[in-house]
Amino acid sequence: MDEKKKKTAEFKVLKNGPLQVNGEFVIKSMGGKVIESRNPAFLCRCGGSKNKPFCDGSHRKVGLRD
Ligand code: FES
Repeated sequence: MDEKKKKTAEFKVLKNGPLQVNGEFVIKSMGGKVIESRNPAFLCRCGGSKNKPFCDGSHRKVGLRD
């Protein structure tokens, strides 16, 4: 994916779960390395994931409620 090309993405909050990202995007590490561009991506909102910034299903144990 050409990183200079303008990207569009849609973010959707899933009830009691992660943030779903659809569209054209890249997620970079603190060092600037691209770590994700798959579509869709699911990002942790509960803070419990052991694979941040991605959801690993831990929101069920944490009891995330909207
Ligand atoms: S939202 Fe799924 S692990 Fe945090």
